[in-house]
Amino acid sequence: AIQAIKAIRGRLLSFVAEPAGPGDTSSYRLIEDGLVVVRDGRITEVGEAADLLRGLPEGTPVDHHPNGLITPGLIDTHIHFPQTQVIASYGAQLLEWLNKYTFVEEQRFADAGHAERNATFFLDELLRNGTTTAVVYATVHPGSVDAFFAESERRGTAMIAGKVMMDRNAPPGLRDTPRSGHDESLDLIGRWHGKGRQRYAVTPRFAITSTEEQLEAAGALVREVEGVYMQTHLSENLREIETVRGLFPDARHYTDVYDRYGLLGERSLFGHCIHLEEDEVRRLSESRSVAVFCPTSNLFIGSGLFDLDRLSRGAAPVRVSLATDVGGGTSYSMLRTAAEGYKVLQLGGQNLPALAAFHMMTRGNALSLGMGDEIGVIEPGRFADLVVLDSRATPAMAHRMETIDGDLDEELFVLMTLGDDRAVAATYVQGRLAWERG
Ligand code: GUN
Ligand code: ZN
Repeated sequence: AIQAIKAIRGRLLSFVAEPAGPGDTSSYRLIEDGLVVVRDGRITEVGEAADLLRGLPEGTPVDHHPNGLITPGLIDTHIHFPQTQVIASYGAQLLEWLNKYTFVEEQRFADAGHAERNATFFLDELLRNGTTTAVVYATVHPGSVDAFFAESERRGTAMIAGKVMMDRNAPPGLRDTPRSGHDESLDLIGRWHGKGRQRYAVTPRFAITSTEEQLEAAGALVREVEGVYMQTHLSENLREIETVRGLFPDARHYTDVYDRYGLLGERSLFGHCIHLEEDEVRRLSESRSVAVFCPTSNLFIGSGLFDLDRLSRGAAPVRVSLATDVGGGTSYSMLRTAAEGYKVLQLGGQNLPALAAFHMMTRGNALSLGMGDEIGVIEPGRFADLVVLDSRATPAMAHRMETIDGDLDEELFVLMTLGDDRAVAATYVQGRLAWERG
């Protein structure tokens, strides 16, 4: 149960705007000894501990993290919960990786017990890594979505997820039909979309595994249901793009395949977006769609290098979010993910300042989901989903921190470059302690 009132004390960091560059102190608010007051899961007050402690009712519990840097809970905008036993699979690029590992494992989710055990493991692992909201692919089996949302609902986390729709180019055990994919999705929407903090994402896996009829059905769902999300994969791997060209000879390009069925829009998330043509960038921009940067996955599967500058700073800017893409991705940690993002951008002669990375993991990803009024910042009215980070979590981090004299940029850069689950001291969901490092 959620406590009526409690408070969490420590160094508070929350963004108010997108950082213009390193050292942009106007983009965030830092309170050295701050207090977050929580009532019924929501933040009611934020400020100096010295001021706020006096106003608290007698006996209010205060969790004090004197060495902790408290930020909003981290947000992962693309991850596959049925791939916790696919992560770290050797030696294949996308299409072979899917057939050899992923489609084999995902068939096991026909078993409700398997789905439930994996949902439990998955959410434990997210919280251990400081991630409190994620946008999640289940499998083609409706039961996998029920298992996932039931576990999320039990924990009070805000999650977005959907049943994968796949009616061709997959093993028979992983295929639905345009009709069953539509009807089962609609059923799940009825059960879960807007139930507590759960929301639904219509999830055609990608153009290769859906017929035109199925993409049409996915478009109908997006049009018919208020507030649903849409997630899929786009332009990840060169052989994938060639295959799509062969399957949809009339489409102008890969993005056009989705565009024709009404799948672009401000609640649409497109994983990867690596090898886009200029016209695709223009359509993603016009439609306010989100391109999801998945650096550990793009490196591990050998897909290519995301071009952040081209997408976000061009004449037609595209909204961009950051994600792990486990199990193509190799880490559940958004800190690790930001570190690999930095390296990907370095290879393209670009950069990712630590402030920009932390903004992306919190407020930026929240805005990309249209959830800025619920999560992503530490401000009154938002849910008290918080993570307590420890910049000295390992000997290497503590040693490196000795040279940093109160410089927040540098500290955040050490946290993202050397940090991972070990740097997560505690995670709060609606003000309730959901994980604490031993
Ligand atoms: N494209 C279609 N399905 C997948 C998937 O499961 N992972 C990744 N990385 N790309 C995909
Ligand atoms: Zn993916």
